[in-house]
Amino acid sequence: MKKWIQKAIVQKTISYLPFSRSINYLFQKHITKGVHLTDAYFYDRLAHATAHLNAYHKYTGNAVPQSSLEIGTGWYPIVPVAFFLAGVQQIYSVDIALLTSKERLETTLLKFETGYKQGQLQPYLSTILPERYAALTALLKSRHHLTLTNMLQQLHITYLIEDARKLSLSGNSVDLVNSNNTFEHIYPQILVPVLQEFKRVVKKPGGVMSHFIDMSDHFAHFDQSVNIYNFLRFSDAQWKWIDNSIQPQSRCRIYDYRQMYAQTGLPLTEENCNQGAPALLQTIPLHSKYAQHPPQEVAISHCHFVSDMSKAAEDGRG
Ligand SMILES: C[S@@+](CC[C@H](N)C(=O)[O-])C[C@H]1O[C@@H](n2cnc3c(N)ncnc32)[C@H](O)[C@@H]1O
Repeated sequence: MKKWIQKAIVQKTISYLPFSRSINYLFQKHITKGVHLTDAYFYDRLAHATAHLNAYHKYTGNAVPQSSLEIGTGWYPIVPVAFFLAGVQQIYSVDIALLTSKERLETTLLKFETGYKQGQLQPYLSTILPERYAALTALLKSRHHLTLTNMLQQLHITYLIEDARKLSLSGNSVDLVNSNNTFEHIYPQILVPVLQEFKRVVKKPGGVMSHFIDMSDHFAHFDQSVNIYNFLRFSDAQWKWIDNSIQPQSRCRIYDYRQMYAQTGLPLTEENCNQGAPALLQTIPLHSKYAQHPPQEVAISHCHFVSDMSKAAEDGRG
């Protein structure tokens, strides 16, 4: 049996258990080795952080936002810590579950410290305020006496454990709303209300939204015997059996996201996408749901969406 099918079965089983997220973390840590903080992952997310800040600067003229909100930060809060170093005052991270821990925050901070000392961080993160870096190293020194909450406070990070469809933040209050490889894990019936909520909280005028979407089959990241379009061979009914609630994959394509933005009335100011690998797509017997669309659209596997809200009216219609 292929490795990705074994993983799908295990994750499906885990998804029915109590404490499924913690069990999945242990499964990924010890069996699939999918939650180790690798350099590749760390620097990829740093590049995202810089792209978010650049998008904000491009459309507002301001160097850094005062406030930011990320949905689905995941195990290691790399983008929030990068924003801290850049000088963001209030950094919100929202998730339905608290996935980070004191240990994982420490691992993240140590990675920043090592990267800085080795000069590897600086090319990825153009703005690192000296006083913020000094605060990070001081925090690392005193960490043994601190709780996760104390540490997050010192990093100006607030974790909101809530559903992003109903945020506790006030309307028109966040300068930069962002996400990193999260949209693909949220099905449209939830993502549309999430986008509506983002539209409510982002500053109008003056805010920016910046989202990275990874539309590849995530099972292919783990099992190289299948390619990044493998999941497009299945019907929705078949996929329902394969997919799981701990790490769902909506399989939405670029045209679905465009449609959701249009439906929500969010401007799609920039769409920076790669072409994917059309030759690989041709090797997959696509389900009719996908085969009816232009292959070059279906093949797009990674995209960065930017919404410039600088001209949007306060009621969000602009
Ligand atoms: C795959 S993870 C994100 C990965 C991470 N951003 C990264 O860079 O690797 C997706 C996250 O989105 C969160 N999420 C899904 N639906 C949500 C919702 N309605 N509100 C808040 N968080 C949600 C999940 O709990 C999960 O932690």
